[in-house]
Amino acid sequence: MATRTGSRTSNRSTSTRSRSTNQGRSSDSNSRSAFSFGDNAGPLLGAALAGVAIGFAANFGRKALMQGMEAIAGDWDEILAAEHDMALAIFDKMLATDETQTFKRKMLLMKLTHALDKHAHQEEMVVYPALREANQTTDADQLEGEHGYIKTYIYELNEAGPDSDIWLEKVREFRALVARHAHMEEEEVFPAFKNSLDDEQNARVTSLVNRDGFWMA
Ligand SMILES: [Fe+2]
Ligand SMILES: [Fe+2]
Repeated sequence: MATRTGSRTSNRSTSTRSRSTNQGRSSDSNSRSAFSFGDNAGPLLGAALAGVAIGFAANFGRKALMQGMEAIAGDWDEILAAEHDMALAIFDKMLATDETQTFKRKMLLMKLTHALDKHAHQEEMVVYPALREANQTTDADQLEGEHGYIKTYIYELNEAGPDSDIWLEKVREFRALVARHAHMEEEEVFPAFKNSLDDEQNARVTSLVNRDGFWMA
């Protein structure tokens, strides 16, 4: 099987973007709020609020990290190509499992589903509409149609279950489809489109891809 060995290393500098999320602190613990259920409810409510604040901060931090990683990964086409490599690497881990490793297979399929979902959203909400605007409608429609078959493989793998006899064969076919699709994007469609953009338009597409990826992370 052809595996991709190319590594896109990015010169990652640590992002200094950080935002204080300390506003969620509960105030005076002696004050009774409208949600107070009794004298002992204060600490419980405080703990619940703190939990929400921590959850929000963790999620925001994760998104900020994802965005930071993307923001320094380069232009939109380099971001998307790096995501192709990440997805193909997950496929390779899936192909290295056997039918006894059902938990690992489930986890890897979840990870792949999330990665492909985010990736497809960025392409379908930004890049393919921009391709159509640049008169590359046939390519955009073909690529978007293939995303449908990518979702179909995810559906079929979930339906078959991780201990199924056909699981590995399905993953192998699925990987081949994604590799072919990514190759068409990276080698044909995206370079032609990028050549038609001026610097400002190119920066705009990068910004929109980053923004979409942030909310999908
Ligand atoms: Fe795609
Ligand atoms: Fe793609």
